[in-house]
Amino acid sequence: MTDPNTSDRSYAHSHAEHARRQAVIAGGVNSNVRLAGTPVPLTFASGSGAYLWDVDGNRYVDYAAGMGPMILGHNHPAVTDAVRAALDTGQLFAGQNRLEAEFAEAIVGALPWIESIRIGMSGTEMDLLAVRIARAATGRTKAVRFAGHYHGWLDPLFIDMSVEPEPFGPAPLTAGQSVAAAADVIVCEWNDLDQLAKALAGGDVACVLMEPVMCNTGLVAPAPGYLEGVQALCREHGALLVIDEVITGFRLGLTGAQGFLGVHGDISIYAKAIASGFPLAVLGTTTELLAPVGRGAVNHSGTYNTGVSSLAAGVATMRQLIDHDPYPEIDRVTRRLVDGLRSLGGDAGLAVDHIGGALFQTRFGTSDPVSSRADFAARSDKTRLARFLELLQHQGVRPTGRGLWFVSAAHDDEAVEATLAAAGRALGGM
Ligand SMILES: Cc1ncc(COP(=O)(O)O)c(C=O)c1O
Repeated sequence: MTDPNTSDRSYAHSHAEHARRQAVIAGGVNSNVRLAGTPVPLTFASGSGAYLWDVDGNRYVDYAAGMGPMILGHNHPAVTDAVRAALDTGQLFAGQNRLEAEFAEAIVGALPWIESIRIGMSGTEMDLLAVRIARAATGRTKAVRFAGHYHGWLDPLFIDMSVEPEPFGPAPLTAGQSVAAAADVIVCEWNDLDQLAKALAGGDVACVLMEPVMCNTGLVAPAPGYLEGVQALCREHGALLVIDEVITGFRLGLTGAQGFLGVHGDISIYAKAIASGFPLAVLGTTTELLAPVGRGAVNHSGTYNTGVSSLAAGVATMRQLIDHDPYPEIDRVTRRLVDGLRSLGGDAGLAVDHIGGALFQTRFGTSDPVSSRADFAARSDKTRLARFLELLQHQGVRPTGRGLWFVSAAHDDEAVEATLAAAGRALGGM
């Protein structure tokens, strides 16, 4: 048996690739989330099904899943075949292609609360479009968002709660951002209806934007009745409710968190799991709310929107998810992983948070329910998590760097068994 503390894996080629990139690419990565990496941000050679191989030939059972998109696993043949066939037709026409209607019909057909959509490239830009539509519809300026939620990296929404000078004053998250943009945002603690009521009382809020299940700071479920309360407050104060399903969409089952939890927003955003790793994102809402976009009064544009290969991937992914219903099997596999990790990790203080669907969170701390970012911080020992993840990596298992695990239709019992055996060794080495 390998010693989990001293990896016998070599990362020499990843080191060399990283050094080469660092000379010409800031930090050697192209998304700051990837800056962290032990012993170095890894370079991958290929992926297939539930597995990834790095450039040193190390194999991983992959639960990072491209940060969520790979709901069918890597290189699903239905997707790659569709993309290959589509490439023969050309990629970008500065006009429409036939796949647009097919993709939109699949989305509108799967999600009964959506009548009409716009298609873009990333969750970030569709979240910004949602805020723009809400401002145009309400004639108001402010957006409410919640501590610990993530809606992309651009100035209008990459904003957190400052502790000073007032409880929920907004503050840009990194240097160089517009302070003026932050002034249009009110940041509240999630799962706290009183704070939201206070934020809405001014009558100047265009929209309330949230992840329906907090996934970007731990996995935190909405408290019973909370989403209904948010919806009622939004209606009372004339603000639109924007549900950001970039992670939960098509991952908490076909109808995402809104189907799972039974509460629907006015505007919904989907990305990640809709196109198996190709750049595709969707804003969905009523025909009426999208009408100003349709007549050009509210701008939405983009050179690369609806590129043929992305849409081919989107249509193929939708057809797999809708026609072949992989969710019962994904649920079974996820449940085995969650139960297995819970029984392995109890003594080591490993808690596994799972509310359903193809994702769960590992953290080190008491298993008491977590209801906010603050709770999560108090009940999650980051140092122990980092050590666990490092040992898991040496054992050939790769969740995301924040301890969130994405399960796919390609994870089978063999992958589960390899994972649990690796987790047992990793926990033993801590
Ligand atoms: C909930 C949520 N919204 C929006 C985004 C931004 O999406 P993208 O990275 O496609 O711009 C993310 C990305 O992780 C996300 O998790």
